[in-house]
Amino acid sequence: MIRRCRIYEGKAKVLYEGPEHGTLIQHFKDDITAFNNEKKDILEGKGVLNNRISEYIFTHLNQIGIPTHFIRRINMREQLIRKLEIIPIEVVVRNVAAGQLAKRLGLNVGETLPRSIVELYYKDDKLRDPMVSIEHITAFCWASLQEVDEITALALRVNDFLTGLFLGIGIRLVDFKLEFGRCHNSDPPALMLADEISPDSCRLLDIETGDCLDKDRFRKDKGLVLESYTDVARRLRLLNEERPIPSAPVLVT
Ligand code: TMP
Ligand code: ASP
Repeated sequence: MIRRCRIYEGKAKVLYEGPEHGTLIQHFKDDITAFNNEKKDILEGKGVLNNRISEYIFTHLNQIGIPTHFIRRINMREQLIRKLEIIPIEVVVRNVAAGQLAKRLGLNVGETLPRSIVELYYKDDKLRDPMVSIEHITAFCWASLQEVDEITALALRVNDFLTGLFLGIGIRLVDFKLEFGRCHNSDPPALMLADEISPDSCRLLDIETGDCLDKDRFRKDKGLVLESYTDVARRLRLLNEERPIPSAPVLVT
């Protein structure tokens, strides 16, 4: 068995030293947690699904020129990624009122927001990831003003891409969380998207039925969590199932 050096273990992922300088291996676990680890479970196969879904999304983001840490998937549970210095800010993009925003501002859940809203939270489990302003971020040197501007612009581009991607498979993207880091391979360091994008970090609703297809099923004890993640992977055509032969285009006369 190959012994690997574990760099970091989070709630849903482990990072190991990578095969080359400046790389890491990101391993997706089956653990699922909510409310800052108060609620936890293990869902066999969740790590495999999130690895595939996140690979698909990050590959496309790289292709459209959004720099990400993703290099390639290695196996069912692992990806080769660039080693970044993680910026301790969680970036949430919201299109529809839900979760903390609906609670905080008394909005009706499901209400479309007047425009997409970007929120910034300080990444600290002990403090329960408090919401912070640009003033806090720059005063405490978590990131520079230029980096915050760049992060906001990238987050909105990711939102445009994801909204279209999910719309195409009958899913409404309510909101999601991103993380960013600095890649020190260049001077000045380049900002890159890090972490994962999966049903763990997004709110996704079936457009027709309004059914929830994400981690809210776990948070709210709705059941069928793994089935919903599988549904997202299936709609993205990531599962090894027989693919129907597409019918020939019909000419409208
Ligand atoms: P919130 O409404 O609870 O703030 O969540 C906003 C979005 O961010 C939602 O899609 C879930 C995601 N999120 C995470 O990925 N990790 C977290 O720790 C939290 C609180 C939210
Ligand atoms: N990610 C956080 C946790 O694992 C909170 C959440 O997603 O609800 O506890």
